Amino acid sequence: MRTLGTVGEAAGFRTTAASPLVLVPTMGALHDGHAALIDAARMRAGREGTVVVSIFVNPSQFAPGEDLARYPRTLEKDMDVCLRHGADAVFIPSAEEIYPPGDSTIVEETELARGLCGAARPGHFRGVCTVVAKLFNILRPHTAVFGEKDYQQLAVIRRMTRDLFLPVEIMAHPTVRDSDGLALSSRNRYLDADGRERARHFPAALQNARALAEQGETSVSKITATARDGITAGTGSAPEYVELVDAESLQPLTRLDRSAVLAAAVRIGETRLIDNLRLNPPDGKV
Ligand code: PAJ
Repeated sequence: MRTLGTVGEAAGFRTTAASPLVLVPTMGALHDGHAALIDAARMRAGREGTVVVSIFVNPSQFAPGEDLARYPRTLEKDMDVCLRHGADAVFIPSAEEIYPPGDSTIVEETELARGLCGAARPGHFRGVCTVVAKLFNILRPHTAVFGEKDYQQLAVIRRMTRDLFLPVEIMAHPTVRDSDGLALSSRNRYLDADGRERARHFPAALQNARALAEQGETSVSKITATARDGITAGTGSAPEYVELVDAESLQPLTRLDRSAVLAAAVRIGETRLIDNLRLNPPDGKV
């Protein structure tokens, strides 16, 4: 496995890499969710192709006061995960490589990025789009793999790729969960034992709301109220948001009459968790 530390090295590697090249962008602190994305990338690339994992804690997607400084960094273990899951190269640039002095260009998706997490984290998706566009241009992947755990991020990146005619196939991977249902996240390690116990009620509340929809409920206010009340009772924190949105446009729905996503965020102590579930209308019409 090659370690690429600079943009120049990565660009040089690209010119010799066997096709197709599949990229898995990450911020490190890799867990089994990331590992599943690397496995999927390996499958997509086949034995002939090339899998690259990027590990870069991207400063521009953290707002002042967020957890940039304390974001977990576990590079040695991350390299081991990449190696074990068949990555051919790991790209680990410094912030100065990606944002050299004088860097003054941003990439902003202006519609899908506005609601949900975008409302609570102004500038977050601008940072994500900017760094992902840079990674795409440096490594010129055929395919890039993203997790449905960050559903809005996936939608925003799909839209950016489409709008900018970036020649990259965006591949989605389902959310990987712990045995009790909590979506794996690098931020879960911030939780103490009490917080971790409270956190398991977060996905459970979303599942209860989905069960209500599966029983025939189409009123979005009833479905979201079930999720909201369940999250508040189970985790001890009122959610930052709970919304049922159109799966494509991310626009809020009033009735569950099309393919939708129930998305929520909650803070447990200092730790912000997000999760989402796909919901279909009760008659199965999507
Ligand atoms: P990070 O949070 O490290 O996540 C990297 C990728 O792993 C993302 O596509 C994310 O959706 C996926 N992922 C995380 N947890 C997952 C889980 N439990 N199941 C499935 N996939 C999961 O997302 C980012 O980094 C950054 O914003 C990035 C895209 C790298 C840009 O900086």
